[in-house]
Amino acid sequence: MNLFDFQRHRRLRRSAGIRAMVRENHLSVNDMLYPVFAVEGEGIKQEIRSMPGVYHFSLDKLKIEIQEVVDLGIPSVILFGVPSHKDECSSEAYSENGIVQQAIRMIKADHPDLVVITDVCLCQYNPAGHCGIVDAESGNILNDPSLELIAKTALSHVQAGADIVAPSDMMDGRIAAIRHLLDENGYTDIPIMSYSVKYASAYYGPFREAAHSAPAFGDRKTYQMDPANSREALREADSDVVEGADFLMVKPALAYLDILRQLRDRYDLPIVAYNVSGEYAMIKAAAQNGWVDEKAIVMETLLGMKRAGADIIMTYFAKDVARYLKEGN
Ligand code: PBG
Ligand code: ZN
Repeated sequence: MNLFDFQRHRRLRRSAGIRAMVRENHLSVNDMLYPVFAVEGEGIKQEIRSMPGVYHFSLDKLKIEIQEVVDLGIPSVILFGVPSHKDECSSEAYSENGIVQQAIRMIKADHPDLVVITDVCLCQYNPAGHCGIVDAESGNILNDPSLELIAKTALSHVQAGADIVAPSDMMDGRIAAIRHLLDENGYTDIPIMSYSVKYASAYYGPFREAAHSAPAFGDRKTYQMDPANSREALREADSDVVEGADFLMVKPALAYLDILRQLRDRYDLPIVAYNVSGEYAMIKAAAQNGWVDEKAIVMETLLGMKRAGADIIMTYFAKDVARYLKEGN
């Protein structure tokens, strides 16, 4: 065989030094967005059964957790509220003294520089467990009436001091509704991180247990996307961009990296990958059984999200990643 008729790719893999020189993608602690669950009460730090290492925190315990997050250099958190009271109007979602509003005030008082993002939705706050208002007769999720409550919720978070709001409800027109209400109230500079492309996914199972937000009847397929579709994802993202979204999110991440890549190629906005609860639980379960190397598999998985085009990774592994990056390999 002619010695020159093939290429020696292995030359660039010869040493750790050369591999580092030619490495195309990197994980950084600055990419990490850490989700936290706030509950009412005191002295509560309760592990979520299907998410080992993830907890419900009452505010006093949350304070300690947030200090840890800051000490690890993680730049941002996203808050999920688990209220103790649910009603048809989801009133705890936009109450001035709701659990999320209290958590925002506490965290911002302690750490003005930590970027506090809030999940904006109704499903944890009403007994039906749906992301919008339910029509009592038909059981349909009503789009337009939901917008008002969702926008009100976002405004109340911003009034409490949130830096960014992240609506996850998947109602049509929510970005516009939130943008208008925030602007009307003088909050023209608060960014919206849209859960633009959110699929109706089985990967949310552990979260629904964590947030007590499983639908009481039916499913979310009339508002969350069909996993079979990708062109529809572009239409969803297009309307969010037109309505004024500042960040786009793809959720879940792992089974939807093709969608992430398509959004990366189509838009210049920052893109967030949400490494959801089921993705976390699968890795944890395998690692606890000794079947995979947790550190290696976490880093490889999240790096895959960056390679697919994510700028930001929302992950329950954020603290672990911060530690791994400090340790080096
Ligand atoms: C609902 C919501 C979901 C998640 C966050 N907010 C999904 C759902 O229950 O439909 C999932 C997050 C995760 O699985 O980690 N607004
Ligand atoms: Zn919801």
